[in-house]
Amino acid sequence: MKRVAIIGAGPCGLGQLCAFAAAKAAGSDIPEVVCYEKQSDWGGLWNYTWRTGTGAHGEPVHSSMYRYLWSNGPKECLEFADYPFEEHFGKPIPSFPPRGVLADYIRGRADKSGMRDCVRFGTEVRYVCWDAEREKFVLITDELQSGGNRSELFDNVIVATGHFSVPNVPHFDGIETFTGRALHAHDFRDAAQFTGQDVLVVGASYSAEDIALQCHKYGAKSVTMTYRTGAMGFKWPETMDERPLVQRFDGRVAHFKDGTSKEFNALILCTGYLHHFPFLEDALRLHTGNRLYPPALYKGVVFEKNPRLIYLGMQDQYYTFTMFDAQAWYARDVVMGRTALPSAAAMAEDIASWVAREEALEDPYQEIDFQADYMRDLLAVVDYPKFDVDLTVAAFKEWEHHKIDDITAYRDKAFRSPCTGTTAPLPSVPWLSAMDDSLESFVNNVDG
Ligand SMILES: Cc1cc2nc3c(=O)[nH]c(=O)nc-3n(C[C@H](O)[C@H](O)[C@H](O)COP(=O)(O)OP(=O)(O)OC[C@H]3O[C@@H](n4cnc5c(N)ncnc54)[C@H](O)[C@@H]3O)c2cc1C
Ligand SMILES: NC(=O)c1ccc[n+]([C@@H]2O[C@H](COP(=O)([O-])OP(=O)(O)OC[C@H]3O[C@@H](n4cnc5c(N)ncnc54)[C@H](OP(=O)(O)O)[C@@H]3O)[C@@H](O)[C@H]2O)c1
Repeated sequence: MKRVAIIGAGPCGLGQLCAFAAAKAAGSDIPEVVCYEKQSDWGGLWNYTWRTGTGAHGEPVHSSMYRYLWSNGPKECLEFADYPFEEHFGKPIPSFPPRGVLADYIRGRADKSGMRDCVRFGTEVRYVCWDAEREKFVLITDELQSGGNRSELFDNVIVATGHFSVPNVPHFDGIETFTGRALHAHDFRDAAQFTGQDVLVVGASYSAEDIALQCHKYGAKSVTMTYRTGAMGFKWPETMDERPLVQRFDGRVAHFKDGTSKEFNALILCTGYLHHFPFLEDALRLHTGNRLYPPALYKGVVFEKNPRLIYLGMQDQYYTFTMFDAQAWYARDVVMGRTALPSAAAMAEDIASWVAREEALEDPYQEIDFQADYMRDLLAVVDYPKFDVDLTVAAFKEWEHHKIDDITAYRDKAFRSPCTGTTAPLPSVPWLSAMDDSLESFVNNVDG
C-alpha cells in the first residue's frame, strides 16, 4: 500500500487529514497516512505557549502567537466549508474571534475527521531525503520524550510545517548598545509587559500593526512603528506614530532616516519570518520569501523538481484555512492518482504565468482577487464542498476599507457566512475595550 507522510498537524496538516478522511467516507481506499507533529497536540501556531526559545525537550518553540491575539481577518473568510462555525458552536458568533475560539474550532473539525490515530505527536521529523534507487523518501524522526530515532520509507511527503515560526532578525547599527528589552515578534507573548513604556516596533505588516495596537490597548505610553518600504498609513491613536526606518541605535536612543530620534524602553522586531526547512535535504528545499505565488510549486503545492513532494500553505496569506483545504484536497487527488500532472514543461509554464501575474499586482485589492482566483483554480477540480468565494472577496475588500476608516475598530464589524448565509452578530463589547478573550464570553457575546 502507498505510504504518505504529512509533516505538521497545524491547519494545513489537519486539512490534509480531513481531505483523506472525506475520500474514505465517500468509499475510496486511501493510502496509509502518517502525520508527524512535534508538539503534543494538534493546531499548529494556534497552540498558545508561554514558552519562548526552546521547548521542554530542547526543540525550537513553534508558536508565534500571543495572549490576547484576536483574528485579524473576518472568520467568514476562513470558514471550513465542510464544518461551518454554526455547526461547531451551535449558534452564530461575532466575526473576529480571539485565538482560543479559533483554536477550538480547528480542533473540533480535526476531531470530527476521526484521523487522530494517524498522528504521531511529540515526534519531530529530523531529515528527509529522496532515494532515487528505491523511488521512495527516507524520513528520519525523533521521538522528543524518549529520544528514539526511526527511519521509514514513504511514497509521498507533504510538508505542512508552516512558515511563520523561524524569525527573520535583521541587524541595525548599534543595536548591541540598546539597553532596553529587545525581542522578535515570535517571542512576544503578553502586551501587558509593555504598560507605561515607550515601544519601538520595526516593520510595516500584520505583526507590526497588531503588536503595536496590542501594546497601545494594554497601556504602552507610546508606540512608534518604523518602516523600510512604506508606512502602513492608518489613522493611529495619538500616542502612536510611524517613522522611516531606524538607521542606528545609541543606547536607548533610536535614530530614524528622517533625522528624528527618540528614546525607547523596548524594541520589538516585527520583521517577518523565514521559510526554513532544515529537515529537508537541499534538493528538496523550497527557497522563497513570503509571497503570494512561491515559484517552484505547481498549483501552489506540487514541488516542481520532485512532484512526489508537496508543500501546503507556503503562500503569503489573505485566505488561510479554506485555501489550505483547497490545496489539501488537490494534493490528495494527486497522491491518489485521481489527478494526473502535466509534463514538466507545462507545469513550468503554468507556474511562470501565475508568478508574472503576481509580480504585476499593485495593491491589496488586486492581491485579494489574485489569491481568490488561485483558490478558484483549485476548487474547480476538487470535490471540496461549495461555498460563496465571491462573498469572501467582497468581505476582504470591505475589511480593508474598515481598517482604513478606523484601525482600532475594524474588529467591531459583522460579516455574512459564505457557507450558511447567516450574518454574524455584532460584538457586544468593542475590541479596544474587550479585555476578556475567553471562549465562554466570546461565544455568549457578553462582557465577562
Ligand atoms: C502571530 C500570527 C497570527 C496569525 N493570525 C492569524 C489569524 O488571525 N487568522 C488566520 O487565518 N491566520 C493567522 N495566521 C496565519 C497562520 O499562518 C495560519 O492561520 C496557520 O496557522 C498556518 O497553518 P500551517 O499548518 O501552515 O502552519 P502552522 O500553524 O505553523 O503549523 C505547522 C505545524 O508543523 C509542526 N512542525 C514544524 N516542523 C516540524 C517537524 N520538523 N516535525 C514535526 N512537526 C513539525 C509544528 O509544530 C506545527 O504544529 C497567523 C500567523 C501568525 C504568525
Ligand atoms: N491575528 C493577528 O492579529 C495577527 C497578528 C500578527 C501576525 N499575523 C499574521 O502573521 C503573518 C506574518 O506577518 P508578519 O507581519 O510577521 O510578516 P510579513 O507580512 O512577512 O511582514 C514582514 C515585515 O517585516 C519588514 N522587514 C523585513 N525585513 C526588514 C528589515 N531588514 N528592515 C525593516 N523591515 C523589515 C517587511 O518590510 P517591507 O514591507 O519593507 O518588506 C514587512 O513589513 C501574517 O499572515 C499575518 O496575518 C496575524
